[in-house]
Amino acid sequence: MTSDRVCAWCRDPMPVTLRADAVCCSVRCRQARHRFTRGVGRAGAVADGQPLRLAYADPPYPGKSRRYYADHPDYAGEVEHQALIESLTQFDGWALSTSAAALPEVLASCPPGVRVGAWVRGERPARSAGPLNAWEPVIYCGGRAYPSRVDARRVDALVHFSRPRRSDPLRVVGAKPARFCRWIFDLLGAMPGDEFVDVFPGSGGVMRAWEVYASSSADSDA
Ligand SMILES: C[S@@+](CC[C@H](N)C(=O)[O-])C[C@H]1O[C@@H](n2cnc3c(N)ncnc32)[C@H](O)[C@@H]1O
Ligand SMILES: [Zn+2]
Repeated sequence: MTSDRVCAWCRDPMPVTLRADAVCCSVRCRQARHRFTRGVGRAGAVADGQPLRLAYADPPYPGKSRRYYADHPDYAGEVEHQALIESLTQFDGWALSTSAAALPEVLASCPPGVRVGAWVRGERPARSAGPLNAWEPVIYCGGRAYPSRVDARRVDALVHFSRPRRSDPLRVVGAKPARFCRWIFDLLGAMPGDEFVDVFPGSGGVMRAWEVYASSSADSDA
């Protein structure tokens, strides 16, 4: 039998036999949720001054939308990157994931002043006449400026090898790991109190990470 409460990780109904204070339906979900929360970590401080409007866009790689996402409910053909980038520039800060192969073409549509960060995620099994691709660029712009601290460094590259989140029933090709989400928050100087928009939610993992991050600070144990 199940109750009308849902698991905080897989979102399935919770068995009624579980303790009233349980938030996950199984040990597997509890551990997956714990790993994810730990991967995001806690925010260093709460934003002072004006909250920012920030956005992250993780569209299909240019030219690959149909190949990977044709059977997804949100599939709408190729993403028009020029229009997407124009919409991102309405935010105080934004980040856009793309492929190393498409980077020159996508950068050509970007305004002056953007920066490129590198996520070294490890190579994918692929047939390739050239070197295997092992990284993914993130173009970013704006956000909150503040100096790195010894205990909270902001770095424009992330080395993090990840595996698919098999315990997540909503996972999609290209779903981003918790540690990556945290890196994006840091690149943009995001703080709890800011507004964060995930333009291509896919698994919903980025907003799940934002909820963890935005509900935490160095002063709380959330
Ligand atoms: C790289 S995935 C996003 C992954 C997400 N960041 C995550 O961590 O789960 C790209 C998403 O865009 C969706 N998509 C594909 N074509 C689209 C289109 N033309 N417009 C909007 N979304 C599209 C796909 O179904 C997929 O969910
Ligand atoms: Zn569950």
